[in-house]
Amino acid sequence: MGKDTFYITTPIYYVNDKPHIGHAYTTILADVLARYHRLLGEPTHFLTGTDEHGQKVQQAAKKNGVTPQEHCDATVVRFLELWKRLDITNDDFIRTTEPRHKTIVQAILQDLYDRGLIYQGSYKGWYCVPCERFFTEKDLVDGCCPDCHRPVEELEERSYSFRMSQYQQQLIDYIEAHPGFIMPETRYNETLGFLRKGPLGDLCISRPKSRLNWGIELPFDKDYVTYVWFDALVNYISAVGYRANDAEFSKWWPASYHLIGKDILTTHSVYWPTMLMAMGVPLPETIFAHGWWLVGGAKMSKSLHNVINPMDMIDTYGVDAFRYYLMAAMSLGQDADFTELLFATRYNADLANSLGNLASRVVTMVTKNLDGITPPAAVANEQNQELMDKCLKAAAAMSKAVRTMTLDLGLATVMEAVREGNRYFDQMAPWKLAKEGRIDDLKQVLRNAMECLRITSGLLYPAMPGKMGLLRRALGMSEEQVVPHIETLSVWNQLEEGAKLGELGILFQKVDLKPLVEADKKMREEADRLEAAAKKAAEAEMARQETPCELITIDQVQKVCLKTAEVIAAEAVPKSKKLLRLQLRLGEETRQIVSGIAEHYKPEELVGKTIVVVYNLKPATLCGVESQGMLLAASAGTELRLVTLDGPLPSGAVVG
Ligand code: ME8
Ligand code: MG
Repeated sequence: MGKDTFYITTPIYYVNDKPHIGHAYTTILADVLARYHRLLGEPTHFLTGTDEHGQKVQQAAKKNGVTPQEHCDATVVRFLELWKRLDITNDDFIRTTEPRHKTIVQAILQDLYDRGLIYQGSYKGWYCVPCERFFTEKDLVDGCCPDCHRPVEELEERSYSFRMSQYQQQLIDYIEAHPGFIMPETRYNETLGFLRKGPLGDLCISRPKSRLNWGIELPFDKDYVTYVWFDALVNYISAVGYRANDAEFSKWWPASYHLIGKDILTTHSVYWPTMLMAMGVPLPETIFAHGWWLVGGAKMSKSLHNVINPMDMIDTYGVDAFRYYLMAAMSLGQDADFTELLFATRYNADLANSLGNLASRVVTMVTKNLDGITPPAAVANEQNQELMDKCLKAAAAMSKAVRTMTLDLGLATVMEAVREGNRYFDQMAPWKLAKEGRIDDLKQVLRNAMECLRITSGLLYPAMPGKMGLLRRALGMSEEQVVPHIETLSVWNQLEEGAKLGELGILFQKVDLKPLVEADKKMREEADRLEAAAKKAAEAEMARQETPCELITIDQVQKVCLKTAEVIAAEAVPKSKKLLRLQLRLGEETRQIVSGIAEHYKPEELVGKTIVVVYNLKPATLCGVESQGMLLAASAGTELRLVTLDGPLPSGAVVG
């Protein structure tokens, strides 16, 4: 890393959402990384916050009869409280409604406008007042709103755009020259693929107040607010003194990591870098996009009743176990499955039966047999070689894991060292040594086991600060040693001879898996039931397609609204062999559709294609995923091909 400071950020979460396991995950990951870097002695700055502007907040406030600001002030508390419960050590919390953020966003807007990088354009369109939506001439059905069929008004709307297109080549060159800029590699390739595919457009950064007024006003046109992403992304620099405190800003910027989920890759890997280029600000070192937490193989959603509330998990298993599990069970970059059964199974195996067990055996024996006094430094010999090696290897593995963003692998090595501790303990059978009065041998064995606990608890400290703090105090470490010094974790024999051990209750109470096995079975049955229902619906659809055609009138044809759509992302629907989930762009609009084409197309083959979709089909839920339309494909026997265009045309164009 170029700088000797470490600056890490999370996305700023929509204040309207109720925080769930996904939000908790990114924030815990940032916290664990920040804690490791602090242990390395690096000046560290950790930022999180909330994204408070936009339509949803405005609507929710209206519904509750409060102002949008009051609504935000009431809901931000859910995040603040959760971070407190989760032992999150963020150095700052930014809210986009704070003056320190708003003034900077406005200064940036004004500056880009003055330099011609934001320009005014206009477009004519038809506005449906009740739906609060803009339509083009072609969208209209019999001159009326295609959604509610009421009359529309002709409006000419001004808009402002950012000259994003101007930076396309510069960004491609930058990404090519900086392999670590977007991580992991799949996301790096995805971004480059997107940028190389065709011309990058400009970015509309304004919304007229007549439609949305909960936002940051454009300093050069008071009838507009800025687009919420243009506002939100700026938090990463407004929070550290951009244009306000040069010393602070140059201390932390460029950020070491922007941690994000893969859902918000493009805004971070394309919009944000081009915005920074226009501002003349260096780009962040790494944008790291992690995968999804799925639940029982399915995406979390309110309709599936499978949203995991972190507070429930903390109440049952404790904060530290929850933090540990999230870090240990996800390989960064890939998706991972969360179920309470998987969690509890690993909790028992790693924490209750391995770490907790070793800690309790060691502390109990030292207390009973050695008056709770730390025995003298151990002498290396054949019997403890393996234990020492495994612990020291874990220290090296963990520091590598932090550098390479493979925390799961690092933690697995630490757990191996703990397991070796238990094996060593069993093999040396200190209780026999005590019985036989071989006190010196007993001291050596217990000291070695204590050293194993000292190192492993130190390595696990950033993930489990609470419980590891308890354990380290029980091992007789002084207050200033409780937070580990990284140098001491790769050397043996660091405990102080003669130090008095403290008390250690049960670190991790074992849980009964039986009720969880039952609950898990039920959940899976329910998921299978949903999948079977989706399959049946798909079969019915096939059957319908196979029935002979009857003649229809032009009116019937006109009822179907077809539009072109560009595929901007595609992925498999978990637990389904046939379904793919596509994210589509239709002009200004984005939509998601689910389609049974997984046996015919790989997700990556689809990205960039312009296809045709039924635009006015009622949304349906397939395999727990909402589908907002249907794509057109031709099929014959087992072959299937998508309907595409034979030349370029913008997405959102009407087909008919
Ligand atoms: O997108 N698994 O906010 P948001 C893993 N305000 N992580 C998940 C997840 C899941 N199932 N669900 C959510 C926004 N996340 C914008 C961001 S930043 C300038 C503006 C995490 O409240 C993940 O980090 O929708 C994802 O990117 C983020 O929550 C989205 O949070
Ligand atoms: Mg989201």
